[in-house]
Amino acid sequence: KSITRRLRITSGMIPFPSPLITFPTEISLLFLFLLLGGSSGSCPTVCDCASQPRAVLCAHRRLEAVPGGLPLDTELLDLSRNRLWGLQRGMLSRLGLLRELDLSYNQLSALEPGAFYGLQHLLTLRLQGNRLRILGPGVFSGLSALTLLDLRLNQIVLFLDGAFGDLGSLQQLEVGDNHLVFVTPGAFAGLAKLSALTLERCNLSTVPGLALTHLPALVALRLRELDIGRLPAGALRGLGQLKELEIHHWPTLEALDPGSLVGLNLSSLAITRCNLSSVPFQALHHLSFLRILDLSQNPISAIPAHRLSSLVRLQELRLSGACLTSIAAHAFHGLTAFHFLDVADNALQTLEETAFPSPNKLVTLRLSGNPLTCDCRLLWLLRLRHHLDFGASPPACAGPQHVQGRRLSEFSDILPPGHFTCKPALVRKSGPRWVIVGEGGRAVFSCSGDGDPAPTVSWMRPQGAWLGRAGRVRVLEDGALEIRSVQLRDRGAYVCVVSNVAGNDSLRTWLEVIQVGPPNGTLSNLNMTMPGIPGPFFLDSRGLAMVLAVGFLPFLTSVTLCFGLIALWSKGKGRVRHHVTFDFVAPRPSVCCLFSEDPRELQMQTL
Ligand SMILES: *[C@@H]1O[C@H](CO)[C@@H](O)[C@H](O)[C@H]1NC(C)=O
Ligand SMILES: *[C@@H]1O[C@H](CO)[C@@H](O)[C@H](O)[C@H]1NC(C)=O
Ligand SMILES: *[C@@H]1O[C@H](CO)[C@@H](O)[C@H](O)[C@H]1NC(C)=O
Ligand SMILES: *[C@@H]1O[C@H](CO)[C@@H](O)[C@H](O)[C@H]1NC(C)=O
Ligand SMILES: *[C@@H]1O[C@H](CO)[C@@H](O)[C@H](O)[C@H]1NC(C)=O
Ligand SMILES: *[C@@H]1O[C@H](CO)[C@@H](O)[C@H](O)[C@H]1NC(C)=O
Repeated sequence: KSITRRLRITSGMIPFPSPLITFPTEISLLFLFLLLGGSSGSCPTVCDCASQPRAVLCAHRRLEAVPGGLPLDTELLDLSRNRLWGLQRGMLSRLGLLRELDLSYNQLSALEPGAFYGLQHLLTLRLQGNRLRILGPGVFSGLSALTLLDLRLNQIVLFLDGAFGDLGSLQQLEVGDNHLVFVTPGAFAGLAKLSALTLERCNLSTVPGLALTHLPALVALRLRELDIGRLPAGALRGLGQLKELEIHHWPTLEALDPGSLVGLNLSSLAITRCNLSSVPFQALHHLSFLRILDLSQNPISAIPAHRLSSLVRLQELRLSGACLTSIAAHAFHGLTAFHFLDVADNALQTLEETAFPSPNKLVTLRLSGNPLTCDCRLLWLLRLRHHLDFGASPPACAGPQHVQGRRLSEFSDILPPGHFTCKPALVRKSGPRWVIVGEGGRAVFSCSGDGDPAPTVSWMRPQGAWLGRAGRVRVLEDGALEIRSVQLRDRGAYVCVVSNVAGNDSLRTWLEVIQVGPPNGTLSNLNMTMPGIPGPFFLDSRGLAMVLAVGFLPFLTSVTLCFGLIALWSKGKGRVRHHVTFDFVAPRPSVCCLFSEDPRELQMQTL
């Protein structure tokens, strides 16, 4: 309770003995001498003991040592913003009732073991803004009741084993803004009740996973502004009680390992301002108690369909300031408690109702800062606009032109004609619809559509399966269909479907394939054994075609000669691979071998 009641006293608020200001060094030293020698129990003249009961406030007094004569019943001692440079063992030991000690913003560079000895009721110790470098074992011994320790803004490089050994009641530890390079595996041993740990702006290059396993009661872990590029699988294993994990501003973190959150049962996860390019679904998969997920300010471009459904209790998703261009239909499928979405400041042109399992349950929707196209896809939002909390700035239309810049909340219930409408997709007819291609050739069928919003183009095989963007038969970026190395079985009717939210249209194109080249030979499994070459080699159909073209005897002569040469040449250079590749150029009666620097790579070519 004393923490919350405490007042910050600045020098301007307290009547200052004026000589102290005019001749700081000599006078304050003399003053200190008097104070240290003075009797205990009264208030040191330099401090303020009247503002608060049982509080001694000595901030901003240019003190170079702890003043003597402190009342023995002091519960709050504020020595912040002075010039204290050291703290000797037992110096404060008579203040057994002290509950809060503020030593922040001094020049303390070393703390002797036992410096806080005797302060068995101390709850809060503030040491931020000093020059501490190393915390050795025993520094905090005797502080058995301490609940908050603030060590930010020091120059601590190492946490050694047992540094916090006696702090069995500590609940909150702040260690940001240090030069921390290494935390030994046993550094946090003994912190049995620590529930919140913040590690920020340190020089750590890995998460100190082993040290963290000594924190069985940890509920909140914040790891901010660290130059760590990876969270390895199992890095946080052992933090079974952890509810809240924050990873903020790790500029080099580009992905989460699938196992990186294994062993955790989080209710709130924030991975913000990192370099994640997609939602790390695999790493999140098992977090079925997760309620809040914040992935803001990562270069994430899409929320695909159905992938979040294992996070059954998810209520809140924040993804503002990312690079979102699409939120798929059924993106939030299975999230029955979902009611808060923040996707402000992205590149979304629309947000379809079908993304949500039940749009009516949505309470908060932050959508400002997106180039929204106000067409029929946003009608649902218009309908819900009075019930939704859009935050400080409601979403506005970026197009079409006649509603540009207007906020959703400005539209009346009866819309003028042409507002929030769509035009169904129609195929734009072009190109031949009957294509004849020789076997082995390439065929391209174009297809495009008109409509508002611009339709998507997809293609269906003659057998009815949808075609993708990869493979021998694939849909190109511009919507055309490409078939490479056409085979006889590719023959048939291909259907192009253009569709948008308002409707769809389709068009058929016939492909006819004519057979060219030699039919499949009966000799295609010819297995030859070459003299001088150990083992057989396999002759493929192209090789066979060459044999037929060149004539068998000249071919065999050339090949034998060729292999003889290779056998001699490759003796000291390793084995020749026995699968021979033939490059068939033209049927002229001569064969020659080509070999590259790698003697195992052998090619034959007709000349
Ligand atoms: C920690 O990083 C800062 C800034 O990058 C650097 O100035 C400092 O020297 C580093 N400290 C150590 C101990 O490596
Ligand atoms: C973020 O990731 C992209 C590639 O995904 C990379 O080009 C860029 O350099 C990364 N940024 C940082 C700060 O590492
Ligand atoms: C996970 O945490 C929730 C509370 O957030 C708790 O009810 C549940 O029992 C925990 N599950 C496990 C497996 O610990
Ligand atoms: C095209 O529209 C019809 C109804 O108009 C619908 O039944 C069909 O599923 C749609 N097809 C595609 C591919 O969207
Ligand atoms: C030729 O053989 C290949 C397998 O080597 C087979 O897939 C193809 O269908 C055959 N073509 C004809 C016309 O029989
Ligand atoms: C060629 O013969 C070898 C052994 O004689 C055999 O292992 C191999 O499978 C044969 N290859 C073909 C394609 O028949």
